[in-house]
Amino acid sequence: MKEVLIAPSILSANFGSLANDVKLIDEAGADWIHLDVMDGHFVPNLTFGPPIIKSIRNISKKPFDAHLMVTNPDDLLEEYVAAGVDMITVHKEVTPHLDRTLTRIRDLGCKAGVSINPGTSLSGLEFLLEKLDLILVMSVNPGFGGQRFLESQLSKISSIRDKIDQLERPVGLSVDGGINEKTGKMSIEAGADILVAGSSVFRLEGVPYSKAIEQLRNR
Ligand code: DX5
Ligand code: ZN
Repeated sequence: MKEVLIAPSILSANFGSLANDVKLIDEAGADWIHLDVMDGHFVPNLTFGPPIIKSIRNISKKPFDAHLMVTNPDDLLEEYVAAGVDMITVHKEVTPHLDRTLTRIRDLGCKAGVSINPGTSLSGLEFLLEKLDLILVMSVNPGFGGQRFLESQLSKISSIRDKIDQLERPVGLSVDGGINEKTGKMSIEAGADILVAGSSVFRLEGVPYSKAIEQLRNR
């Protein structure tokens, strides 16, 4: 079975004790810590930015995976890097100069990712593959945790997998939104290798984080 990475999204953590939740998911076996940055503009919800990320950076050594759901990601790239993130993913829908933005992210020493909304096509990504370390397929409309997985995105995951497999270097393929044991399995079968999960790690009544992560990993 191929290796699957689990990236719990702290969007569903308890913000009142965020540091403790980050510590707990780190100890529970999270591979990456997924950071959902929302600006109340590109998406209707508002979360956190560099200062909060910086304040939890020293709690875990796991890679910090910043998912920027913001209209103007270019304006704050340096701040996210200074806050200690390892990967920065921007949205295709709001990044007009994607080639430049991805280049800058890498020049700043981070891995560069692009995320695609459910209604967005892959068009143009074929010109950027060499500059990408991660492709993040949204399987819900971004903005909120706890939404239902959109199966319409599975064929998109498969066609990205085909493209990635033709490359000579690894590019991560992650799926974000509505991931649980069942939809996680479907996503992996379609070709994903990273599962982002909020509710099904943090909000499973009576299930320890370690068990929730293992369930997703082993499907
Ligand atoms: C949605 C975020 C997701 C979200 C996933 O806009 O990008 O990372 O936290 O949450 P669940 O797993 O609850 O759908
Ligand atoms: Zn996310």
